[in-house]
Amino acid sequence: MSFSTASLLVLITCLLVTVSQSHPGFNFGWGGHGGSGGISFGLFPEFYQFTCPQANDIVMSVLEKAIAEEPRMAASLLRLHFHDCFVQGCDASVLLDDSATITSEKKAGPNKNSIRGFEVIDEIKSKLEEACPQTVSCADILALAARGSTVLSGGPNWELPLGRRDSKTASLSGSNTNIPPPNATLANLVTFFKRQGLDEIDLVALSGGHTIGMARCVTFKQRLYNQNGNNQPDETLEKSYYFGLKSVCPKSGGDNNISPLDFGSPAKFDNTYFKLILWGKGLLFSDQVLLTGNEKNSMELVKSYAEDEDFFFEQFAKSMIKMGNIKPLRGFNGEVRKNCRRVN
Ligand code: HEM
Ligand SMILES: *[C@@H]1O[C@H](CO)[C@@H](O)[C@H](O)[C@H]1NC(C)=O
Repeated sequence: MSFSTASLLVLITCLLVTVSQSHPGFNFGWGGHGGSGGISFGLFPEFYQFTCPQANDIVMSVLEKAIAEEPRMAASLLRLHFHDCFVQGCDASVLLDDSATITSEKKAGPNKNSIRGFEVIDEIKSKLEEACPQTVSCADILALAARGSTVLSGGPNWELPLGRRDSKTASLSGSNTNIPPPNATLANLVTFFKRQGLDEIDLVALSGGHTIGMARCVTFKQRLYNQNGNNQPDETLEKSYYFGLKSVCPKSGGDNNISPLDFGSPAKFDNTYFKLILWGKGLLFSDQVLLTGNEKNSMELVKSYAEDEDFFFEQFAKSMIKMGNIKPLRGFNGEVRKNCRRVN
């Protein structure tokens, strides 16, 4: 980039930041999807540079404490951002409780008895409201918490675009239809991701989020007892792993018993998840099919990420940015909630 282009960019950025401060609701940005269709820039990392420079430090300090107390919380928070972004975009719709005007997404099939971490988000929000009232959106908190949780678990860091605003609506039906189920085929998974503007590279890399956290028996039981309607286990399951899983997840009952998605290192963000898949030890059907789903690209990606952790980290970071850019509300659209559980 030439010097003059660089300085022009700096100048434009300064102007935009000035405008955003004097008009907090100003819709900056050309292009991007969703929004009012007006001129509108994308999200950008310096969004809170002047309005709440300590935002990320506050998020990190709450996360450090919460994850030290319970390492799994990192996984739960990473997943929350995913379940937010796949339903009406990254707009914190997943955080809304039931009310007169809202039917909460928390009751949807993929979320019920499953998503967690709301108390940690509440704590972050209340600290941010003290420091910078009505400035940092709940949607950005989810994105910051997902990145911070990845970093604190030993995973990659990335420059995180910010400036999302919070929805005034939720979509129970959207949660039921847009979040992929654990028994999805590879073709299904590709379709679910494509619907969000994400490709197969994103699918394989983001599935690597399963390098941390747990899953309930009910999400992998089908594989143990009746994968294809013939009362036989999934033949892609490695035998010793299969026997171990049966002891955690009996044929009847035990639906809420949990098992690590990456039993090698369930609290460490690394590439073990992909190594386990190579050994037939992916927990969910949707994990194992990335290798066995008869799709060359996906299979090669699993192998590459298993071989080269840096390569996985690099792609995970890129795909997280892409996922975080799904239909954000900006400008005058949406609002900055005071309490992440309800609209203002
Ligand atoms: C590819 C499609 C995906 C499917 C089918 C899927 C499915 C699941 C299921 C069934 C669980 C266990 C839930 C439970 O037992 O209550 C789970 C957990 C989890 N998922 Fe996914 N997931 C997918 C993609 C992702 C993505 C893109 C991310 C983030 C980048 C992610 C992050 C997580 C994490 C961290 C957990 C553990 C949560 C905890 O321990 O609280 N998943 N996923
Ligand atoms: C996936 O699981 C759901 C819920 O248990 C079930 O209704 C559906 O038939 C399963 N799909 C496949 C392809 O096995």
